[in-house]
Amino acid sequence: MFPNNFYWGASSSAFQIEGAWNEDGKGLTVADYNSFKKSNKQADTKVASDFYHRYKEDIQLMKELGLKMYRFSISWARIFPEGDGKVNEKGIDFYNDVIDELIANNIEPFITLYHFDLPFSLVEKYNGWASYKTTEAFVNYAETCYKAFGDRVKKWQINNEQNLMVRVNERMNIYDAKGEEAERLRVIMDHQMFLAYAKSSKLCKQLVEGGSVGPSISATVTYPATNKPEDVMSAIWNNRLKTDYCIDTHVNGAYPNYYLEYLKETNRMPNISEEDVVSLSESVVDFITVNYYRTLTSRHLPVDANHFKGEKIEGFNIVDYNMYGYWEILKNENLKESEYGAQIDPSGLRIALNDYWNKYKKPLIITENGLGTADNLVDDKVHDGYRIDYIKSHLLAIEDAIRDGVDVFGYNVWSIIDILSSHQGFKKRYGLVYIDRTDFDEKDLRRIPKDSYYWYQDVIKSNGQNL
Ligand code: BG6
Repeated sequence: MFPNNFYWGASSSAFQIEGAWNEDGKGLTVADYNSFKKSNKQADTKVASDFYHRYKEDIQLMKELGLKMYRFSISWARIFPEGDGKVNEKGIDFYNDVIDELIANNIEPFITLYHFDLPFSLVEKYNGWASYKTTEAFVNYAETCYKAFGDRVKKWQINNEQNLMVRVNERMNIYDAKGEEAERLRVIMDHQMFLAYAKSSKLCKQLVEGGSVGPSISATVTYPATNKPEDVMSAIWNNRLKTDYCIDTHVNGAYPNYYLEYLKETNRMPNISEEDVVSLSESVVDFITVNYYRTLTSRHLPVDANHFKGEKIEGFNIVDYNMYGYWEILKNENLKESEYGAQIDPSGLRIALNDYWNKYKKPLIITENGLGTADNLVDDKVHDGYRIDYIKSHLLAIEDAIRDGVDVFGYNVWSIIDILSSHQGFKKRYGLVYIDRTDFDEKDLRRIPKDSYYWYQDVIKSNGQNL
């Protein structure tokens, strides 16, 4: 049974749907920059799903769907084209219009301040998150948003998946550094993002009346490949160093000891001043937002004569890397995988929700969960029963978690409309609504609700009874 006030929602992010990448004063972002490098292979951020020009039509579709919540991100570079400096009023106007339109249609806006799209100017000026200047710029940007939108927007997510973003070189604009130099830089950037979180979450409480704020994490649930104690420990380490250290730091306001020990042992410890320690301790977590797509399986990966403890090598993919002395990721033969290799595992969501609830006792909301795959448009219809199966099985797992006693207050499908996927463009689709375009042909960008849209509409109407 889902609670009566359960937030049935859907998600998106600015660079993946808005388009209008340089319109009305918006500045270049890291997400734009990286997407332009792949313009000859797939769609880029220039038009994406054209939400910037079609938000009214899209919000009507959200209303007909019955959404109670829409989780989306603000493009920092629309508000501050240079990352810091002068505010771009047209950017403020755009998000005011979106927020007002949502509220007029009884949909609660839930804002992410930063979803992988750092203003590129901050890379040029300060090497992005390598510098405290970027932290200051972020806090100033957050303050501007709280003041501009906080009278109507009460739920805030500071950034999207800091724990996953930091693992991806192109998202962190780590272009030249290699090996240990890159690893040390990554930890410094992560540290600045922790400071940015702590400072801006504190500010949210001061500036937004009745506001609540929380971090977002990409959930890692790891199964040990065998019952050998070192394999069990490898799974614990994979969870710790890919996800848990991040929530622990936000919730407890300090780095956990296991993480500090790991940083010392691998010689990756960043500079942490006394002032930083105080700032981190002021971090506020009202709720935890969980993005969940899949589970992992691991076994211990011993060091040998050619590899040192902490040495990283690519595993399944960049984000699911292996690390000597800690873990190696293996395929779980008991699970089916998506066309793009994600091991589909609804039970893993129940495990994650129970784990986070038991450890942190903070209300939880799923801000992303969905299936990325190709869809076929036939006679103006998309029969995506596979997506319905995916979402349904995950909702049943959430219901189980709620029955277990976990406080879950909402679920947002990723994504409301088809979005630009970073590595597969429009070949890989997540939306409840089909966008009629391909990577290289923008066609008419028509919006066509898929079967999953109508199915979700019924789920919402019945408050989850008709799953
Ligand atoms: C999440 C991100 O990690 O994964 C989204 O927050 C992203 O932005 C989603 O779209 C799916 O990943 P991908 O690479 O399939 O688009």
